Amino acid sequence: MNTSLTLRRPDDWHLHLRDGAMLAAVAPYSADFGRAIIMPNLVPPVVTGDQARAYRDRIRAALPSGAALQPLMTLYLTETTDPADVVAAHAAGVIAAVKLYPAGATTNSASGVTDFDRVRPVLEAMAEAGIPLCVHGEVTDPAVDIFDREAVFIDRVLDPVRRATPGLRVVMEHITTSDGVAYVTENASNMGGTITTHHLVINRNAILAGGIRPHYYCLPVAKRETHRLALRKAATSGQGPFFLGTDSAPHSDRAKLAPCGCAGCFTAPNTVSILAQVFEEDGALDRLEAFISLNGPAFYRMAPNEDRIRLTRHDSAVSYPTEIAAGDETVTVFDPGFPLFWTSEPA
Ligand code: NCD
Ligand code: ZN
Repeated sequence: MNTSLTLRRPDDWHLHLRDGAMLAAVAPYSADFGRAIIMPNLVPPVVTGDQARAYRDRIRAALPSGAALQPLMTLYLTETTDPADVVAAHAAGVIAAVKLYPAGATTNSASGVTDFDRVRPVLEAMAEAGIPLCVHGEVTDPAVDIFDREAVFIDRVLDPVRRATPGLRVVMEHITTSDGVAYVTENASNMGGTITTHHLVINRNAILAGGIRPHYYCLPVAKRETHRLALRKAATSGQGPFFLGTDSAPHSDRAKLAPCGCAGCFTAPNTVSILAQVFEEDGALDRLEAFISLNGPAFYRMAPNEDRIRLTRHDSAVSYPTEIAAGDETVTVFDPGFPLFWTSEPA
């Protein structure tokens, strides 16, 4: 017999919607979320309040009528970001956060920060105004092994930046290690940690064992199984500092299936179904609402969504698109590697 569950409408605290034909193709798949923190790593990146406002208009135009989604914009922090522009864009309700990419860390991050002293005035203004800093937590030092880059980032960058700017509220995004879980847990008074759907499901074997599988390659790269289990425990704990940021990051199959393929998993179409199944498997369905609908707004000092979604567990597996069209391209949807039984709809 089908069972169902009603939850407050979830939010996505880390989402890539891109622009142009890709935006038009992918935005509808996030339309049932209440709010989403929109990543600014376009080409060129979204660096000013005016650019964020214009991008927000393009997103709204790409959403189907009746969509719930409210885009919460971010600015891409560069070494020339103007603190006054950040504070004004936040006061005007255009941006909800600022995004820090270490230069070269991931897709379209060439304009990111190399010298952290140069962004100190911006971070200080943000601490003062209560504007959260969302952090891509990986060092880019070529001497550091890619599987260690998150743990090294905590010691070399994140902890020093937080100590130098007391009061700055930081989200360590898409954490992939037990080190990330521990650091966020220890500093939960002014930190949050987002966890993606895919990092709850795959470890690094999914990318590399039995053949190379580019659709599982994302950044930060999935780590070994012990880390995946630490993330599962953190997410399903329902604890305050951890909340959903899907990091749904669509790329065309042409860009993924190349000799130097792009990083990113496109999870928007099946994220909620996968999460329901993960929490069910871990006996934590009663904590799903905390992870997807409550802990995020609490960190961002916003009210949880008032309206609800209904999750239904079906007796037989449900279908979802395995790929979608975007202009002349196709984009492959994340395959969790197991059949899905849950669907969700506005209640
Ligand atoms: C993201 C993208 O494609 O923009 N890729 C990814 O693997 N997650 C960038 C990012 O969030 O690191
Ligand atoms: Zn991302």
